Amino acid sequence: MNVSETPPTLEQTVELKMKRAIDEHALRALFTEARTANGFLDAPVSRDLLERAVEIAELGPTSANALPVRYVFVSSPEAKERLKPCVGPSNLAKTMAAPATAIVAADLKFYENFVRTFPTRPEMANNFAGPDKAEIAKAFARDNALLQMGYFILAARGLGLDCGPMAGFDRVKTDAEFFPDGRFISLYLINIGYGDDTKFFPRLPRLEPAEIAQFL
Ligand SMILES: Cc1cc2nc3c(=O)[nH]c(=O)nc-3n(C[C@H](O)[C@H](O)[C@H](O)COP(=O)(O)O)c2cc1C
Repeated sequence: MNVSETPPTLEQTVELKMKRAIDEHALRALFTEARTANGFLDAPVSRDLLERAVEIAELGPTSANALPVRYVFVSSPEAKERLKPCVGPSNLAKTMAAPATAIVAADLKFYENFVRTFPTRPEMANNFAGPDKAEIAKAFARDNALLQMGYFILAARGLGLDCGPMAGFDRVKTDAEFFPDGRFISLYLINIGYGDDTKFFPRLPRLEPAEIAQFL
């Protein structure tokens, strides 16, 4: 038997898998030095880069590969004017000045894609279709779109961008303006660009692992 055909041992396989761990530089960019942006440099963000972040983030897992997140990237002055009345007072100036603002939304009819996105069990769509299942579908769409929003923030950071997620906006007004047919619901806004390092809020304390995790 040729040596190269010898299957790797368990230890060798685990060692190879451990080598997938990202380096300190990447950890800094994604977590340890990444901050929530509270203001941005006056520099544009290309559509290509935003598309790349969307594409990378879509590889993060969702239940039944449901992929319910939807994005509307608001960059043009006209689109910013449409968003303006929807944004809370404390978030208004930075949102109007941000190179791009994503309206992160959930598709309440995500299950219509199951034939393509979950071909092994497309009949799962029956768990969500129809007026009697609308509340279940909405909760499922929200849960999984929020997960995807987290992946998007990390994907954007991985591409060198900074994000400023915001709950302070009027969802009812936003949905009426951008999603009038009721199929999509807005979840959060995210300002996106290259953060102005002079405008960060101080880093707030985090809880200790022992306070939030049990190891049984
Ligand atoms: C879902 C979500 C909603 C948020 N809403 C707002 C907001 O409306 N306005 C704001 O200034 N910051 C908002 N933040 C920013 C958080 O306060 C900030 O991310 C957190 O304090 C951590 O900051 P750091 O990343 O700089 O450590 C929000 C963050 C998240 C994730």
